[in-house]
Amino acid sequence: TWTSGNVAEQLVEDVRAKVGKDRVLCGLSGGVDSSVAAALVQRAVGDQLTCVFVDHGLLREGEAEQVEEDFVAATGVDLVVVDARERFLSALAGVSDPEEKRKIIGREFIRVFEQAARDVVRAHEASHEDDHPVRWLVQGTLYPDVVESGGGTGAANIKSHHNVGGLPDDLQFELIEPLRALFKDEVRQVGLELGVPEGIVWRQPFPGPGLGIRIVGEVTADRLDVLRRADAIARAELTAAGLDRDIWQCPVVLLADVRSVGVQGDGRTYGHPVVLRPVSSEDAMTADWTRVPYDVLARISSRITNEVPEVNRVVLDVTSKPPGTIEWE
Ligand code: XMP
Repeated sequence: TWTSGNVAEQLVEDVRAKVGKDRVLCGLSGGVDSSVAAALVQRAVGDQLTCVFVDHGLLREGEAEQVEEDFVAATGVDLVVVDARERFLSALAGVSDPEEKRKIIGREFIRVFEQAARDVVRAHEASHEDDHPVRWLVQGTLYPDVVESGGGTGAANIKSHHNVGGLPDDLQFELIEPLRALFKDEVRQVGLELGVPEGIVWRQPFPGPGLGIRIVGEVTADRLDVLRRADAIARAELTAAGLDRDIWQCPVVLLADVRSVGVQGDGRTYGHPVVLRPVSSEDAMTADWTRVPYDVLARISSRITNEVPEVNRVVLDVTSKPPGTIEWE
């Protein structure tokens, strides 16, 4: 019978048999797939696995901590954290064009990951702990990714910024894809079975380029801070209203180059709008805007404009996909 318990056990056994005594590397993004894949490999081969988390500074409030603290505490995984926040901000300075931002974030991500991978390999070689090479690279590829890419090995290309196919010649890894027979709901079951924190297991989709593509205009530290605070309020209220499973995801977008007049507290303000983009979807290919109850919207609006003084207007995106994409950039 299919239970997540014996599926997880079987997958763990498979990884153990495949990897043997070799060393394994895994990039963690904070998302469901890479986290569950990492937890599975950790269960199989323990400290033969090293995870690398690149903190690009574009995550939402609490997400880096979720990886650096909660995930590590729950799984005992050996984690290398690369604080690349300054590097990403410098690379993004002065850039407003959406495609340009995506390219920059993708490029920097690969570079930083590459360097971290090299450091892990060197540190291992220098340690003389054992002669087993760093041979494997874990990918959180799921069955739908495999199908979408025609069953080939190009699955990782879909999520382009997590793609490490472009690693240089001196960094050749063989891929290990423990989730490639599973659908998302099965991955979540396996994750729960392995003790992955619920906040990660049930995380809604979040794009690799993160908040970088939810600030319309240039990405700066101050703007990220504003968006992070507004986003945290929206998420908290949607969760409190019990809407997390009804909503596919709800981007909060900062229109950083737009200003409007308002009155907040003692006087006139000239602040920025944020857009709420709650969508319902099966697979993100098409989506409808979610009819979030008015009282929930009202709470979100009033809390954001009270608690985030830089924001003086909250607007609702009522566009389906198509024609509007889920993200604004
Ligand atoms: P759009 O905006 O194209 O988004 O309707 C569809 C889904 O994909 C997510 N998304 C991304 N995920 N890297 C990712 O891993 C990306 O560059 C990226 N861009 C969009 C988006 O959040 C939505 O779930």
